[in-house]
Amino acid sequence: MIVAIDGPAASGKGTLAKRIAAHYGLRHLDTGSLYRAVARDTLADGGDLTDASAAALAASRLDVATLSDPALRGAGLGEAASVVARHPEVRAVLLEYQRTFARGEPGAVIDGRDIGTVICPDADVKLFITATPEERAHRRFLELMQNGTKIKESEVLADIRARDERDRTRGASPLRQADDAVLLDTTNLDIDAAFRAAIDLIEVAMG
Ligand code: CDP
Repeated sequence: MIVAIDGPAASGKGTLAKRIAAHYGLRHLDTGSLYRAVARDTLADGGDLTDASAAALAASRLDVATLSDPALRGAGLGEAASVVARHPEVRAVLLEYQRTFARGEPGAVIDGRDIGTVICPDADVKLFITATPEERAHRRFLELMQNGTKIKESEVLADIRARDERDRTRGASPLRQADDAVLLDTTNLDIDAAFRAAIDLIEVAMG
């Protein structure tokens, strides 16, 4: 069973994906961490994020053991990730790892921007998770505060809007809802309610 979960920045897809994976005993891949790690490694090598070959080289050398590094979740790397994610060369290098992960037993929940459209077009279930930009900014602000990051909520909102725009308008695998994905708007749902709604949608989709 493959569950593909896409959506804009801070829509809660990561938290939902983790809980859905635990519920069904599936493995989970947060593909945003791949792009965040490529941005981190490009910068560490002294490279320029807008340089496709520098970013693709970092992608080809990526050590997946470093994907659980909590530093990847910092605010700056989200923005940096969306810059390297625009390069088709970077996406091409990361494609096979994601597909291989998806095919592994006993199945997987994979979240990102292009999972239902490009990485796993044949996924058994596709969810597109969204919420208003203001609600997403508020949630991300609280998360960053908990991690000790000092940032204004208005800055988080500006970052989210800029990133959504970049992710939706890029040529390579832009963020969009797959034709056969089910939309889940979590603006007025807390995480437990969103999780129950997602499970209901998955059960219906699986018949
Ligand atoms: O957690 P959040 O929604 O803020 O971001 P993320 O899922 O960690 O993704 C960070 C950035 O990586 C996104 O803004 C996208 O530009 C890029 N990304 C992508 O292009 N394709 C994916 N499958 C996942 C992330």
